[in-house]
Amino acid sequence: MNYQAEYEAKRSTAGALAAQVESGWLIGMDAGAAQTPTIMSAVAERARNNEISGVRVQTLLDVYPLEFLADNSLFGRLTSEAWFSGGGSRRAVNGGYGDIIPNYYRDIPKYIRAMYDYDVFCVSVSPMDKHGWFSLSTVSSYSPAMIEKAKRIFLEVNDRQPRAVCGAQIHISQVTGLIEVSHELPVLPPTKMDAISETIGGLIAEQIRDGSCIQLGIGAIPDAVGAALKQKHDLGIHTEMFTDSMVELIACGAVNNSKKQIHRGQTVTTFAFGSQRIYDYIDDNPGIALLPVDYVNDPNVICLNDNMISINAALEVDLWGQVCAESVGTKHMSGSGGQVDYVRGACQSKGGKSFIAFTSTAKGDSISKIKSVLTPGAVVTTSKNDVDYVVTEYGIAHLRGEPLSRRAQQLIAIAHPNFRDELRFEAKKRGILI
Ligand code: COA
Repeated sequence: MNYQAEYEAKRSTAGALAAQVESGWLIGMDAGAAQTPTIMSAVAERARNNEISGVRVQTLLDVYPLEFLADNSLFGRLTSEAWFSGGGSRRAVNGGYGDIIPNYYRDIPKYIRAMYDYDVFCVSVSPMDKHGWFSLSTVSSYSPAMIEKAKRIFLEVNDRQPRAVCGAQIHISQVTGLIEVSHELPVLPPTKMDAISETIGGLIAEQIRDGSCIQLGIGAIPDAVGAALKQKHDLGIHTEMFTDSMVELIACGAVNNSKKQIHRGQTVTTFAFGSQRIYDYIDDNPGIALLPVDYVNDPNVICLNDNMISINAALEVDLWGQVCAESVGTKHMSGSGGQVDYVRGACQSKGGKSFIAFTSTAKGDSISKIKSVLTPGAVVTTSKNDVDYVVTEYGIAHLRGEPLSRRAQQLIAIAHPNFRDELRFEAKKRGILI
């Protein structure tokens, strides 16, 4: 097999690949650094010139400045359908020119296989190895399902992409066309650490025993918890998103994955996003497995590790314990991602716990994130029946299995003091506090 000759025969330009796109196509891309900004710019150019229309693009966690997410005049010609919004797709949804597909992250491959036919799957990969394989690098996620379903596969081969030796791969024989690029991967700006997040991180760290297996969600508070775990020993990682704070925990020796029941000795994740340090860590490292999300985020897999601890953020929580992590009222902010997958997986695990953590107020103490009722339009991410522990800088409330009145009491006790009287008054008026 002369893979190099096949590679050369498939080597193309962004313009030539974009020229193959026809009106009405469905284009698939995966998360963050797996996306193909150069090919998508060329496709956007064709849409701008009215050469194509009715093209839909499915993405997750957009971090590149993709034109069809920034330019509302492309709506209808090149339109986004996000599996999880962040960055550009959040703006497109709030601007009324981008759509979202509600889901639990673990289910996306199932929907892809059952419901969607992709005309092309576009993905960024690391350079080909001598056997003709490309590593899908920092992202496994739902890419294997899209590869199965796509009629064509376009690659952006980026020499800056790390090679994930225990991650998804694609072979040159499966590829329709490729271009070579060389640019830095997108970087997540470091989260701002302040005294309140440190307090929350410390409160949760007290609840985590040595030897536990952790998942940290997206946002400032999960990062603060990561920072507070540096003194622990023998921690393991089974997580959706691999972040900088986890590289730090591995580097300082707090994580060695030695007590895990599955994938012992190995960190498990479905995608990575953060700084260059993460990408350097992943490169050629058998200590980290980037596996498909229908496996990694399956609560029945998550719970196989004992003492599984999940830590995720929220925007508001009502006195029933309903968790909103996706909108501020009607303003769209995010997707469900794997929050519920990990809440359920952790609670099914022997010795497991799940924490939903957030600062007690927003906007300079003017808004309480603990509400008597959710703000109209708020989207429930984790239900009252799934929620376990809720944490603010004022303490920890345990809700799972507790009666409503006890839930309300505990939540009011960890609300900001300025809002406790009002919350108590509302709760009494509604018969929640008895
Ligand atoms: N009312 C009004 N504004 C609020 C608010 C509230 N109740 N809560 C937060 N905000 C504002 C903040 O002030 C901030 O505004 P700014 O951007 O102007 O500073 C903004 O909303 C974002 O809030 P913040 O708390 O800083 O968000 P974060 O970056 O820590 O992310 C989530 C929090 C919930 C959006 C994020 O964790 C998420 O996307 N979760 C859903 C998916 C998930 O949990 N996945 C888990 C597996 S990875």
